[in-house]
Amino acid sequence: MSNTDAIRLDYNNVMADVIGPEHGFTKDDLLDMTARVLSGHEALVAERKAGKLPFMNLPYTDSVVADIKATVGELKDQIEDFVVFGIGGSALGNIALSSSLSHYYANGLSREARGGFPRVHVIDNIDPDRFANFLDTINVERTVFNVISKSGGTAETMSQFLITIGMLKERFGKDVAPRIIATTDAKNGHLRALADQEGYRTFIIPDGVGGRFSVLTPVGLLSAAFGGIDIEQLLAGAKFMDERCQDGDLFINPAYMNAVIHYLSDTQKGKNISVMMAYANRLYDIADWYRQLWAESLGKRMDNSGNLVHTGQTPVKALGVTDQHSQVQLYAEGPFDKIFTFLHVEQFDNTVPIPTEFPDNEGVGYLGGRSLAELIEAEFIGTRLALVQAQRPNVTIDIPRISPYTIGQLLYMYEVQTALAGKLYDIDAFDQPGVEAGKVFAYAYMGRAGYDAQRAAIEKMPQPSNEFMIG
Ligand code: PA5
Repeated sequence: MSNTDAIRLDYNNVMADVIGPEHGFTKDDLLDMTARVLSGHEALVAERKAGKLPFMNLPYTDSVVADIKATVGELKDQIEDFVVFGIGGSALGNIALSSSLSHYYANGLSREARGGFPRVHVIDNIDPDRFANFLDTINVERTVFNVISKSGGTAETMSQFLITIGMLKERFGKDVAPRIIATTDAKNGHLRALADQEGYRTFIIPDGVGGRFSVLTPVGLLSAAFGGIDIEQLLAGAKFMDERCQDGDLFINPAYMNAVIHYLSDTQKGKNISVMMAYANRLYDIADWYRQLWAESLGKRMDNSGNLVHTGQTPVKALGVTDQHSQVQLYAEGPFDKIFTFLHVEQFDNTVPIPTEFPDNEGVGYLGGRSLAELIEAEFIGTRLALVQAQRPNVTIDIPRISPYTIGQLLYMYEVQTALAGKLYDIDAFDQPGVEAGKVFAYAYMGRAGYDAQRAAIEKMPQPSNEFMIG
């Protein structure tokens, strides 16, 4: 494989030779997983062939890309703001794409400096202050609102949608449909029904693609394209990773090796926390996207045979170098319950030279003539070495540079890694009964029809006692 923009998994620092046998693995430990990985691989290949893993085919959706590009071409000059309403899998991928692949402060730039593209905003939470304050910042008249919901019924997103419709009708009369794009299921759900009834432009979330695996559907691609991101290169990167992941050999397939390392670290070495530490602000929201992917996919009560297992490694996000001054004390000296992933950028777009201002001052003189890119690299290497010295297992994803092509690889690799990890844990990595349960209680609490049983259950729950409250 000679692609110079290929990302690389460096797992030297989980090996026993490097961090010792208590926390590290021998090559034989990894080799022992060969048969299980192959059987997981064969199951994934068969499921993909049977159409049960449609997320794996997302890099090949050329007609969707064409539709998205046509829509952006038609609308981009008419709008100043493109606003996404969605939550969880209907937002985290959008945020990750936007912060990694746009100018970091794109919305603060002039339109010209943004290449003529509108400002893109992803509003997930329903904090009323944030929502109201946000509306104050956009030019509503020149805004398109993209409402994203796979189920078409998520209370948070639907509330944002209703508030927006109300606001638009009040300002512009009845015909608000051209200001709305709905991204949802092809046939099912209340958002689909409303979109058809009101005549909204729609994009489809393909059947069988769950929220956390949907970043490469119109869920993520539409807002990325409105932000000027090259979505074809993003998918080309994913395609390249798909080719790399065709091999069932874990010593060749980076997604499988990383799945094995995390699975064994959790189940054999007691590392039930997976920290993803991005040494680049632009990648921090990718760690947030990973948090949902890893948590919702693997955090399960039952295995595939119905046994109580309560699996899952808790994903945590961290930022280098910021968290060196906040978390690394704990990482280096606290409990041996973590495995670390460093997201390491080999070449930043900017180096930012540090001028030689006070050469004779021994406290700052050594910095003169170097650059911020060199400093962040030195701090990354230093922190990683310190963790090795403290026998803390860590892997590094080396990213030649941040581009749609490398980010496409990274996202796709983690999706495949998660699918294989589901096989190793023997759980369903694609459902989320715990999330549904919370949604159902919220519906009951808000008085939605059809949730009487849950409402009754809430009423029967013990009331909080003042005995256990202070203040
Ligand atoms: O990954 C998931 O399935 C969830 O995080 C959903 O994406 C989230 O709950 C939003 O659901 P929906 O897209 O149906 O509104």
